[in-house]
Amino acid sequence: MNRILLEARRINVVRQEPGGAEKKLIDDLSFSLDRGQTLGIVGESGSGKSILVSAIMHILPRTCMLKSGKIFFEGEDLYQIPKDRLNTIRGFQIAMISDNPLEILDPICTVEKQVRETIMAHNPGLSKEAVIEKGLSIFKSLRMPDPEKMMHSYPYQLSGGMKQRVAIALALCGDVKLLIADDATRSLDVTVAAQIVEILRKMKQDNQLSLIWISNSLPVCSLLAERIMIMYRGKILEIGPKETILRSPRHFYTQKMLQVTPKSEGFDRDQKFRGFRVKAGAAAQRTEGGCEFAAICDHAGDRCSASTPELKQVGEGHHCRCHFV
Ligand SMILES: Nc1ncnc2c1ncn2[C@@H]1O[C@H](COP(=O)(O)OP(=O)(O)OP(=O)(O)O)[C@@H](O)[C@H]1O
Ligand code: SF4
Ligand SMILES: [Mg+2]
Repeated sequence: MNRILLEARRINVVRQEPGGAEKKLIDDLSFSLDRGQTLGIVGESGSGKSILVSAIMHILPRTCMLKSGKIFFEGEDLYQIPKDRLNTIRGFQIAMISDNPLEILDPICTVEKQVRETIMAHNPGLSKEAVIEKGLSIFKSLRMPDPEKMMHSYPYQLSGGMKQRVAIALALCGDVKLLIADDATRSLDVTVAAQIVEILRKMKQDNQLSLIWISNSLPVCSLLAERIMIMYRGKILEIGPKETILRSPRHFYTQKMLQVTPKSEGFDRDQKFRGFRVKAGAAAQRTEGGCEFAAICDHAGDRCSASTPELKQVGEGHHCRCHFV
C-alpha cells in the first residue's frame, strides 16, 4: 500500500474578478500527506487555508477554479475521475468539519435520523438495529454523555461542543481515511475546544486517520500536528516536522509568529496569530516580483526586492521560502 494518502502537486487556484481579471488565491502549492499523519496548516486570516481545502474537497466557490496542478487521493486524480467516483471519495473517505457544525447538521432532523441516514448510505446492507448500534458505538467512542438521549435531540437543543461532536460522529460514520478540520474549534470555549482536540487525538490513534488540522494559532495547530505548514498569501512559506518548526524555524515570518505567541502546553484560543502590521508606506516599497516581506523583514537585502524566493529544502523534510536560508 502506498504510504502517501494525499498529494497536491503544483496547484494554482484563481478567482475570476469582475472585468475578467484573475486573482491568484493559491500559488504553485505542493505537499503530500502520509497515511495516519496529521498536517497542521497555520496562517493569518485570508492566507488561503480554507480555499486550499475547498480545492482538495472539490468544493471551490463558484467564482474560483483550479487553474492548474493536480490533486491525488490514493493515487486517483480528483479532478480527472468521474463525478460518481468523486462523490464516493468525498464525504465517505474524505470528510470535513468546520467551525460551523450546522453546515453539516440538518436543523429539522433528529440526530438519530441523520446518523442513521449517513451510516446507511455507507453500509446499505445493514439492518436498522445494526445501524443504530453502530451509531451508538461511534457516539460512545466520542465520549458523548448520555448517547441515547443525544440521539433523540434536534441540533438546536445541543450546545456548541455537542453539535461539533455530532458533526465529527457524522464525518466518521463512513470509511473515512482523511478528516479535514478547518478551524473546527474556533467558536468553542477553551475547555470544550480542548475536549474536541482530545477526541480527535483518540480517533486518530484508534482509526489510523489522517488529519488536516487548520488554525490561525500556531500553538493550537501544534496540539495535534506532526508536520506544520505555514501559509501566507496562498503560498507555503515553511513546512516541516512540528519539532523543527517550533524549535528551529528558518523563515522570518515563522520566527516572528513564535515570538508573538506565548508559550503554552494547553489550549488557548487567545493565542491566535493575527499577522503583522506593515508600517505605513512599507507595502508600497515592495517591488513587484520580490519577496512579500522585503518591506518588513529585518534580514532583507537587495535581492529580496528583485526576485521572489523559491521554496528550498533546508533539512530533513523541512522546506523554507527565503533567499538567505
Ligand atoms: N467564497 C469565496 N469567494 C471568493 N473568494 C473567496 C471566498 N472565500 C475566500 N475567498 C478569498 O480567498 C482568499 C483566501 O481566503 P481563505 O478563506 O481561504 O482564507 P483563510 O486562510 O481560510 O482565512 P481565515 O483564517 O479567516 O479562515 C482571500 O483573498 C478571500 O477573499
Ligand atoms: S527573501 Fe529576503 S525579505 Fe524575504 S524573508 Fe528572506 S530575507 Fe526576508
Ligand atoms: Mg478559513
